Amino acid sequence: MKGVVLAGGTGSRLFPLTRVTNKHLLPVGRYPMIYHPLLRLRRAGVTDIVLVTSPEHMGDVVNLLGSGSRLGIDLTYRVQDEPGGIAQALGLCETFVGNDPFVVVLGDNILGEDLTAHVAAFEAQTAAGGGARVLLKEVHDPERYGVPEFQGDRIVRVIEKPSVPPSSYSVVGIYFYEPGVFDFIRTLSPSQRGELEISDVSNRYAQAGTLTHGVLQSWWGDAGTFEGLEEANRLARDLVYEEHPGVADA
Ligand code: DAU
Repeated sequence: MKGVVLAGGTGSRLFPLTRVTNKHLLPVGRYPMIYHPLLRLRRAGVTDIVLVTSPEHMGDVVNLLGSGSRLGIDLTYRVQDEPGGIAQALGLCETFVGNDPFVVVLGDNILGEDLTAHVAAFEAQTAAGGGARVLLKEVHDPERYGVPEFQGDRIVRVIEKPSVPPSSYSVVGIYFYEPGVFDFIRTLSPSQRGELEISDVSNRYAQAGTLTHGVLQSWWGDAGTFEGLEEANRLARDLVYEEHPGVADA
C-alpha cells in the first residue's frame, strides 16, 4: 500500500508561530510534527510515500526530510500552489498512486497507536471490492472536526464542523482509498470556505454504500490549533519511535 501525507495549508490558526515556518515543522514531543505521520506509516509497512506541501515551505520540508532515507522511507514531493483544501491536495497525488490502494494521513495528526491493523483491514476491504475507510475517535468536542452520522453501525454521512454534532465521534485525519477516489474528487465543488472538503469525499462513498470505519483505541491529537498543539505535546511527550530515537542524528 502507498502513503500520502498532506502538509499544505497556511497554518493560519497558529499565527504567529507559523508566520515564517510551516506548521508541520513545529515541535510535537521529541520530533518535528511531520515525523509523527511519516513514522506511523513506516511502522505499518508503508514506505513509498508522497508528501504535499506549499511552495513557501517546500524548501524547509525537503531540508529536513530529504529523500526520506534517514527515516527509512522513500519520499516523493508534490507542491500545492494554493491552499484549496485537503481533497484538492489529495488530487495532486493521482499519478503517484497509480493503481494502488493507499492511506492518507494529515500532517498535523498525532497518534498513540500503530496503524498496522487498520492497513490490514483496508487490504481485506480492497480484496473484497474496494471503497473507502475512515478512522474515528470518540471526543468531547466533535464540533471541531468532521463528524459521522450513523444509521445502525453504518456511517450515512459526515458533516464538517457541525454546530450540532450528530454523534460524539471525530473522523480523524487518516483515510484509506481505492484509486477511484480521484474520479470522485474531480466532481467536487468548493465549500462555503472555498475548499474542496475531504468530508465530501467521504460522503460520496457513504452514498455509494462503500464507506467503512474503524475506531482508534489509543489517544489521538490534531495539532492544528493552539489547544490541539498543546494537547498533542502533552500526549506525545514521552513518545519515542524505536526506528527513530530522536537523538542527535535524527
Ligand atoms: O484532524 C482531523 C480533521 O482534519 C477532520 O476531522 C476534518 O474532517 C478535516 O477537514 C480536517 O479538519 P482541519 O480543520 O483540522 O483541517 P486543516 O485545515 O487543519 O488541514 C489539516 C491538514 O491538511 C493540514 O495539516 C495540512 C493539510 N492541508 C490542508 C489544506 C486546507 C493541505 O495539505 N492542503 C490544504 O489546502
